[in-house]
Amino acid sequence: MKTIQDTNLKGKKVLVRVDFNVPFDKQGNIADDTRIREALPTINKLVSDGASVILMAHLGRPKKGGFEAEFSLKPVAEYLSKLINQEVVFTQSLLGSEVENLCKNLREGQVMLLENIRFYPEETKGDKDFAQKLALLGDAYVNDAFGAAHREHSSTATIAQFFPNDKYFGLLMAREVENLNKLMKEHSKPFTAVIGGSKISSKIGVLESLLNIVDNLVIGGGMRYTFYKALGYNVGDSLCEDDKIDVAKSLMSKAKEKGVNLYLPEDSIIADDFSEDANTKYVPEMNIPDGWQGMDIGEKSINKYCEVVLNSKTILWNGPMGVFEMKKFAVGTNAIAKAVAQATEKGAFSAIGGGDSVDAIKESGYADKVSYISTGGGAMLEFLEGKVLPGIKAIEQ
Ligand code: 3PG
Repeated sequence: MKTIQDTNLKGKKVLVRVDFNVPFDKQGNIADDTRIREALPTINKLVSDGASVILMAHLGRPKKGGFEAEFSLKPVAEYLSKLINQEVVFTQSLLGSEVENLCKNLREGQVMLLENIRFYPEETKGDKDFAQKLALLGDAYVNDAFGAAHREHSSTATIAQFFPNDKYFGLLMAREVENLNKLMKEHSKPFTAVIGGSKISSKIGVLESLLNIVDNLVIGGGMRYTFYKALGYNVGDSLCEDDKIDVAKSLMSKAKEKGVNLYLPEDSIIADDFSEDANTKYVPEMNIPDGWQGMDIGEKSINKYCEVVLNSKTILWNGPMGVFEMKKFAVGTNAIAKAVAQATEKGAFSAIGGGDSVDAIKESGYADKVSYISTGGGAMLEFLEGKVLPGIKAIEQ
């Protein structure tokens, strides 16, 4: 990989695509700054080399085709200023003479953040003219936005063609690719994938691809009820994708064919309403009574899953085991977090990705006890599916 590690861009205006798509709390504060912090090695390296850094990023999915205050990156610019101990120049527009002059006059080591690139509808269309105009702002291009690398957008992919000899991967991007390659191609066995989350439909590709490489596939979260139904059990009011029952059946038969141990939770904590105040009870089997819905995995499943994780040498975890945002139903998810941390301590390589499981590992206090946490949600899943990500391809070709 051609990364900025092997080059010095002193005196250059460097356009850097970062993923600053971070969550905000109700008070408007950044609720999780991981993506900003993870971009610091790239920003700091460029600053200390004496490059002028022009950051491009998106926030959310604005739809109006222009400025929308709730999606402004201004708070991120202010936050970044504090982290890097210097003013971050912020521009409200991306195109036009004002921003061109600001870029031209940026001094060596100065950092600038352009306003949310998705305020321009051309961005998500991967528009070439738009990309070319952006490209005029810099002398070199760096892609450090792993979280957005699965998007074929102007600033993540199209723009790279205007820098045939001056395009690089950032340090975050390089770290992500290295760790994910390690997971896919150089893993020690037994390899266990713990996959949760609410819907099977969003994970079909990755589940199919994982069946080719893992020894154990451990299923949790709401998606398990589609598997239950496929096996003929009653799912009550639990989340279930009826149109994916055949997919669940086919995944189970592929697992059998390939000799992969597919684990489904044997028991559940169920509730009579989707709320923390609901009445709850434990069911020691896969049948869920009508009027009740599954909210977490039960004790038998927790013990089995932890045992599988603890006996693994490579672990991938994506997706919570239950409705972990309600404390009462976070028991299964927290137990997995602990088991992944313990297995890592024993020498396993562990990788965690997807917003919810990353939140879960942080909330459980084990975030610094795992080998690697990905900044990518959809990007990580697509990488693990074996897809070539446009943001990566654009730099490599
Ligand atoms: C993410 O949060 O997964 C990335 O920033 C990509 O965002 P998007 O799904 O809105 O393209």
